[in-house]
Amino acid sequence: MFSALLQVLIALTALLVLQNIDAAARRTFTKADLRARQEEAVKRLGPQRRAASSSGGPGTVKNITFTNPRASVEFYVDGSTLPLVDWDVGPSWAGLLPISNKTDESRQLFFWFFPPGPEGSLDDLIFWTNGGPGCSSLEGVLQENGPISWSWGQAKATPNEYSWTNLSSIIYVEQPVGTGFSQGTPDINNEDELAEQLVGFFQQFFGVFPELEGKNFYLSGESYAGTYIPYIANYIYDNPDSIPVPLKGFWISDPSVSWDVVQEEIPAVAFVRKYQNVFALNQTFMDYLDETAAACNYADYMEKYVTFPPQGLLPLPGSSVEFDDGCDVWDAIFSAALLVNPAFDIYRIFDTYPILWDVLGFPGSFPQTQVSPLYFNRDDVKAAIHAPLNVDWTECSNINVFPNGDSSLPPALSVLPSVIERSERAVIVHGLADFILIADGCVWQWNGLQGFQTPIQNDSFIVDGMGALGNVHSERNLTYFEVALSGHMVPQFSPVAAFQIMQYLMGFREMP
Ligand SMILES: *[C@@H]1O[C@H](CO)[C@@H](O)[C@H](O)[C@H]1NC(C)=O
Ligand SMILES: *[C@@H]1O[C@H](CO)[C@@H](O)[C@H](O)[C@H]1NC(C)=O
Ligand SMILES: *[C@@H]1O[C@H](CO)[C@@H](O)[C@H](O)[C@H]1NC(C)=O
Ligand SMILES: *[C@@H]1O[C@H](CO)[C@@H](O)[C@H](O)[C@H]1NC(C)=O
Ligand SMILES: *[C@@H]1O[C@H](CO)[C@@H](O)[C@H](O)[C@H]1NC(C)=O
Ligand SMILES: *[C@@H]1O[C@H](CO)[C@@H](O)[C@H](O)[C@H]1NC(C)=O
Repeated sequence: MFSALLQVLIALTALLVLQNIDAAARRTFTKADLRARQEEAVKRLGPQRRAASSSGGPGTVKNITFTNPRASVEFYVDGSTLPLVDWDVGPSWAGLLPISNKTDESRQLFFWFFPPGPEGSLDDLIFWTNGGPGCSSLEGVLQENGPISWSWGQAKATPNEYSWTNLSSIIYVEQPVGTGFSQGTPDINNEDELAEQLVGFFQQFFGVFPELEGKNFYLSGESYAGTYIPYIANYIYDNPDSIPVPLKGFWISDPSVSWDVVQEEIPAVAFVRKYQNVFALNQTFMDYLDETAAACNYADYMEKYVTFPPQGLLPLPGSSVEFDDGCDVWDAIFSAALLVNPAFDIYRIFDTYPILWDVLGFPGSFPQTQVSPLYFNRDDVKAAIHAPLNVDWTECSNINVFPNGDSSLPPALSVLPSVIERSERAVIVHGLADFILIADGCVWQWNGLQGFQTPIQNDSFIVDGMGALGNVHSERNLTYFEVALSGHMVPQFSPVAAFQIMQYLMGFREMP
């Protein structure tokens, strides 16, 4: 009896002590305190959001006018009437143009051109393309580096403070034929043909918008555009008179530049080890991965072959440029990750439930069924941007834009070294939280001795107002950036870093 009472007393005391500790330890914030903290962090980033050389003061977009009547009649977009966008985005120009001047040309690409914002330079022009192959560059407009931000989970569109229109003009093109609103039947077999068709489009574009001739030209894109862009650059450097703008350099982020075995399989197990607590895979499976990595010559590959300076071309770990039998660890990891995290996102490994709503219908590893039309599938949006009403727009095409495959070699094994040399500056950017393409597999491989001579230093990428956000390394005319916390779409997930990198590419800042 006594002891029972004592136990109750002890329990009660313990409870009271715990409650006291709890009350003493709990921080209290007002909503205003919390808001102020976030605003303070954002304020530190403030001054960088412009082209360093810009002379324009605050105000509306730069006054850029096009005299060809087609520009205003066929292509002008009134930024105050974009559906579901509740501010004036300013003037822009969009629509379809053919890829040649043949009268019976059926193939047309869709573009959306934005002039520079108040802080942007009038002397430059950026081209952006998404990858896929077959994914729409309108993803770039709405979710990456355009003036409108309507990203995953956002209830409505908001202005993008880190829009690249704060740097210069930018043109988004849905290419190649078969992508987005583009018209005609895909018929390309390789990257040279892709480049030729895009240049054909640009010849038509500059015919309508000749005021843009002579601008410093920058090519940019992500993912499979890591294959497109070097070949497009190669075509333009080989045929400098084919378009009336001087090509200065290019950006590729989370780029497909080499064989899949190099960019997905070899680094996959080390990647899972590095982010072990994020993947949360069980011990048995981790052991299986280690054994497979050893048996498939993935383990120690980096230590053995990735040397500074490089010894020569990197060997394949087996006999396949994808994976040998029993060696597809990337896919095994994807399945295992989905088992414990059904929201697992190959494009950004940190994502968990809930899967966020996406106005473009593609918020991660899997496309999403929508309760409302995709933004670019609304008739009022199509009408506003001069897009064909009869196209059922999807972010990534349902048809193959290379009907017989893409027969070009990966650019790291072909044109990439030479286009880097011919560029004033070139940047390769990689998100460190990207699993579909893995940073470690990206950078060390092009043409033997032309790889980096010295290793990348940790914490060397300093973002203004933020501090170290990854690693950077420059040699000759190439600068390589690794962005901490960023997934595959760097301008979407790390817009501040992306903006600073673009400033560097364009010569608006001296240091990366
Ligand atoms: C823009 O330029 C055109 C032609 O130079 C001129 O007619 C127009 O008034 C200008 N608009 C503004 C807002 O400065
Ligand atoms: C069509 O384009 C080609 C260059 O691709 C050019 O040589 C030719 O003059 C153009 N023809 C017309 C009618 O503009
Ligand atoms: C950058 O562009 C966005 C969107 O147009 C705009 O809201 C913002 O004010 C711009 N920032 C600067 C510094 O020009
Ligand atoms: C461990 O993970 C593997 C791969 O997903 C799975 O097949 C296996 O059932 C898991 N084991 C346990 C005990 O959950
Ligand atoms: C490449 O970089 C070097 C050194 O910075 C520079 O001298 C050269 O002009 C660059 N190449 C081009 C094509 O600009
Ligand atoms: C760089 O950081 C990694 C961990 O992210 C560490 O393993 C490596 O030793 C570091 N390298 C140097 C030179 O400090």
